[in-house]
Amino acid sequence: MNLLGLRTFWIGCALIAALGCAAAPTEPAPATATSGAEEPPDVPAKAEETPDVVASLVADERSVRPGINTAYFRADALTKYTQVLEAESREVVERQDEILDAIGLRKGMVVADIGAGTGFFTSEIAKRVGNRGAVFSVDIVPSFLERIRERVNAEKLTNVTVVQGEERATGLKPASVDLAFMCATYHHIEYPRAYMHSLLQTLRPGGTLVLIDFERIEGKTSPVILKHVRAGKETVTGEVSQAGFVFESETELLDQNYYLRFSRP
Ligand SMILES: C[S@@+](CC[C@H](N)C(=O)[O-])C[C@H]1O[C@@H](n2cnc3c(N)ncnc32)[C@H](O)[C@@H]1O
Repeated sequence: MNLLGLRTFWIGCALIAALGCAAAPTEPAPATATSGAEEPPDVPAKAEETPDVVASLVADERSVRPGINTAYFRADALTKYTQVLEAESREVVERQDEILDAIGLRKGMVVADIGAGTGFFTSEIAKRVGNRGAVFSVDIVPSFLERIRERVNAEKLTNVTVVQGEERATGLKPASVDLAFMCATYHHIEYPRAYMHSLLQTLRPGGTLVLIDFERIEGKTSPVILKHVRAGKETVTGEVSQAGFVFESETELLDQNYYLRFSRP
């Protein structure tokens, strides 16, 4: 074998070794030790996925929409977005009563308003669940949370807890909530896999998620919304189901927005 032949031979060997290594079956993960204590099980995203797989999927997730919340942190954001989010021209503002009627809120329920914005829905939900109930008003923007505090103080609502949430987690205790309400928030979640995994744990088993967000229909939806909202109803339903929620129903109520109900098994 000449020099060139010898070099080719060794490169070939190295390639085969590398491919063999990559293709080798991975060792099964060791079973996690259990204490025997009655701890809530970690619900995997799909029945066949182990908690280890879910944890790594969640940890490796990249932002699906970098920068979507940046404007909310600017100095003028509170004034600007109070006007935008509470504008009468917004379908969910104009139809607020119908939206809340359709949820079926009852006195005594514990509700999380996820991505509460300036608290437009929080205070109405708080009135409907009454003093035996409670509302966790969760957002990631400190100035919005301050506005919610002012609002609940002004309205003398004593059953609202304002919660600084995180980009990947609700910041609420496991199994602490009967119903999670997400209005126009899902498309602002940058890490939906991690966030929905966390939200699933936040709901009590049998608890409900009501998710309202923009329809995304070519030819019907405005180009601004088509550009701003990354995913339509089908994609969102798939992602939420993938996180372990069970699709329950769709309520045909709104024109520009869809209204979905999921549950935690
Ligand atoms: C379009 S606003 C909707 C506000 C409110 N739900 C409403 O309909 O008036 C979206 C909200 O989601 C919040 N948000 C974005 N990512 C979030 C996260 N990871 N956790 C909680 N809130 C988040 C934003 O700060 C913003 O207030």
